[in-house]
Amino acid sequence: MRQVLGWLALAGLVVGLASAGCGKGDSGGEASSTGSSAQGGTDKKLVVGFSQIGAESAWRTANTESIKSEAEKRGIELKFADAQQKQENQIKAIRSFIAQKVDVIAFAPVVEEGWEPVLKEAKEAGIPVFVSDRRPAVPEDLYVTFIGSDFVKEGQMAAEWLAKKMDGKAVIAELTGTPGSAPANDRKKGFEEVLANHPDMKVVFSQTGNFTRAEGKQVMEALLKSDVGKTINALYAHNDDMALGAIQAIEEAGKKPGVDIIIVSIDGVKGAFDAMIAGTLNCTVECNPLLGPYLFDAIEKFKKGETLPKRIVIEDKFFDQTMAAQELPNRKY
Ligand code: AHR
Repeated sequence: MRQVLGWLALAGLVVGLASAGCGKGDSGGEASSTGSSAQGGTDKKLVVGFSQIGAESAWRTANTESIKSEAEKRGIELKFADAQQKQENQIKAIRSFIAQKVDVIAFAPVVEEGWEPVLKEAKEAGIPVFVSDRRPAVPEDLYVTFIGSDFVKEGQMAAEWLAKKMDGKAVIAELTGTPGSAPANDRKKGFEEVLANHPDMKVVFSQTGNFTRAEGKQVMEALLKSDVGKTINALYAHNDDMALGAIQAIEEAGKKPGVDIIIVSIDGVKGAFDAMIAGTLNCTVECNPLLGPYLFDAIEKFKKGETLPKRIVIEDKFFDQTMAAQELPNRKY
């Protein structure tokens, strides 16, 4: 009996180790084993390792869903690893993909810096790397192409909309994204570039809410209790989730979001459209998370020998309260 139990325990350990080897949050086994081959009719499936940042926002959830469903649709085997906001987890996942000899590595870098060594390892192993969503600060020869929105332009669009709405006069609070990330850096930069032409528009407060609703709310609660917080009449949030958290805090403080404080944010998720229809959010600049079709198109073209541009830009537009009700039924995320 004791020997049987021993064998069962060993078998359990082997199964556990096998799944741990796929990384935390891995869903590699989810890709369908049916469907057309990604390699032009041969039986061998294309294997793609994808390192995702985490699940910090509605945008990210839609992005993950788009990557997973598109891989499944195309019969591509996806090894998916969720890094839970940690760069070290992404580096581990990429190393594990290299060790597993996947055909392609794709990733969305949580921050800009610190990727060169691991991407050099992928290059030395002969595995092409595709960058999705956020830019890493590395030489261009370390990846095939970077697919995603222009975050600087998004920041500019947000500022231009606000300048028009407020007639060039505003006391602004800014909720920034994850420190060191491309969208936080670029959305700040784009916003400030436009503000440079509007001397009566000033950012008097800027703090990170890490792209989450909970932190957006917390930071806004503390701000509204301070002397500076009492002076603000505009909020620029680097994503919708933080804006939605801040809206709750503004309401709880007895003020009217969208009226006492004019709010512009970025992403264009359904929750933002609901808030615009309710009158609590004034404008959202779209950032399309549905990158799955673009990513796998690029990978498949590359595999067929086509040359790709180093940058594939996804075009975005803005929506304000006047457009929200008409646009909501068309929203896919
Ligand atoms: O990198 C894209 C950004 O990351 C989105 O704007 C934000 O919501 C997300 O978490």
